[in-house]
Amino acid sequence: MDKKFKRIGVLTSGGDSPGMNAAVRAVARTAMHYGMECIGIRRGWQGLINSDFIILNNDAVRHILGRGGTILYTARSEEFMTEKGREKAVGTCRMLGLDGVVAIGGDGTFRGALELSRLGVPVMGIPATIDNDIGCSNYTIGFDSACNTAIDCIDKLRDTMQSHERCSVVEVMGRHAGFLALYVGLAVGATSVLIPEKEVNFEEDVVARIQNSRLSGQTHFMVVVAEGAGSAIDIGHRIHEALGLDPRVTVLGHIQRGGAPTGRDRETATRMGYHAVRAFAEGRSGSVICTQEGAIKEIPIEEALAMKKNLPMIRYEIMEAISAPGVFK
Ligand code: F6P
Repeated sequence: MDKKFKRIGVLTSGGDSPGMNAAVRAVARTAMHYGMECIGIRRGWQGLINSDFIILNNDAVRHILGRGGTILYTARSEEFMTEKGREKAVGTCRMLGLDGVVAIGGDGTFRGALELSRLGVPVMGIPATIDNDIGCSNYTIGFDSACNTAIDCIDKLRDTMQSHERCSVVEVMGRHAGFLALYVGLAVGATSVLIPEKEVNFEEDVVARIQNSRLSGQTHFMVVVAEGAGSAIDIGHRIHEALGLDPRVTVLGHIQRGGAPTGRDRETATRMGYHAVRAFAEGRSGSVICTQEGAIKEIPIEEALAMKKNLPMIRYEIMEAISAPGVFK
């Protein structure tokens, strides 16, 4: 081992996701296990610029495993995008005596991590976003919790849609990806799911599916729209024009980012946090901790950023086959 890590920093950056606290706790506790000190950098990369930190001792991370949000706060930093900002961040690392930094977040966070590592600061990344859109990792912390929150909300909506025999159009998050929408759509038995990975054919994907569903005896309908596939409000108007229904539109929004993390998110975050610090302890850095087929892998940040992950379209086919198969096919 060339470099000895004695003190490390940890930060959360970008959109928060349930399970980030579990990852912070795992990083701090694993650091203690290896005899390192752990400093929590607050407000993401901006906190590294502003020297905004707290000491993460054992007490500081007690009882946060099951808490939503992030005790370290999070931000998207414009200043860190500049060379000057990054130089200040390196200065903070020197001032605080940080031998390495664990960055928890999405691809924007990893682009920051890559820049910092190019300036000589050892960095490890941990993927955490409800969008599950990080190419190098099958799974990102927060996805399961967000899916379950959306499912719970849609189950509630279904109760009232069923009573009033209405059509519901629900917009879920996911940025440019449809992972969240498709997973949720399958889990709630949506009539139709619109995702950015498949060009929307309104007549086929919405109108015909609602008609088929009605012909099969259904009197309420659930259309799930990924935010990257269009606006639920627009889709609601178009359904009204095409079918004369009076849809109710719900944009779930940031509620999907809150709440206690599920068991899967706590467990994954704990394993990822452990492996990130273990890499430092064993003298490695410059990678993102990923899950691939359930196993933990370290992938160099630059390579990780270039990797693409395809939405498994078989899930869309399953949704089409099962949710509104139609009686006259
Ligand atoms: O990346 C997570 C995410 O919640 C996306 O699903 C969404 O598009 C975006 O962040 C919303 O960002 P903000 O919190 O800045 O509104």
